Amino acid sequence: MEFILDTADVQEIKNLNELLTVAGVTTNPTIITKSGKDFQTTVKEIIEVLDEEQTFFIQAISATCEEIVEEAKYIDSLREKNIYVKIPVTHEGLKAIKECKKLGIGVLATAIYTADQAFMAAMNGADYLAPYVNRMENYGDGIKEVKDLIEMLRVNGLNSKVVAASFKNKKQVHELIVAGIQAVTVPVDVAYAMINHPGTEIAVGEFTENWNKAFGRRALV
Ligand code: G3P
Repeated sequence: MEFILDTADVQEIKNLNELLTVAGVTTNPTIITKSGKDFQTTVKEIIEVLDEEQTFFIQAISATCEEIVEEAKYIDSLREKNIYVKIPVTHEGLKAIKECKKLGIGVLATAIYTADQAFMAAMNGADYLAPYVNRMENYGDGIKEVKDLIEMLRVNGLNSKVVAASFKNKKQVHELIVAGIQAVTVPVDVAYAMINHPGTEIAVGEFTENWNKAFGRRALV
């Protein structure tokens, strides 16, 4: 399972990269604008904090297939390897996914709201499929739709990885990990929610105090 961070916050990427096994970083246009820096600076800083085996995902902005493919070529040139272009599954985007795959460019199909959209993008060769789990909850059962997608890919022998996105809480992530999801991209607050528990701090405090009472020190030897 690939645990990916959905953020352009370089400091948090550094912090969480030390704490966790982070497979990569996804961004989208809104996430980039929230970084408070220009696009090129943000991208350069993120590439600097990632090691070359970690994946990096940048979204195309333009609307037509031709323009998306041009942007995809530019994004692809930003890094030697493990760079993926996020392409929304509009009609033009679906065309662009096919074109990009002919050119050997890594593609993540994004802005996915249904398993069927994702399945079609998988048929076009997308490497990753990003269903927007929390947003899908506004239209039905987002978790079930993603579980259906996992099964649709399996029974049809399609190799695209599902990278579930748009999480608002750790329960949504948990349910999809249980279901065998290949990848999740998680905002910083949800990543911390997955690892923080007050009970852990309380337990560690008790152990240390008992040790200190018995041996007069807060270290093993
Ligand atoms: O990476 C994009 C996806 O995660 C969208 O998230 O929070 O805007 O629904 P959100």
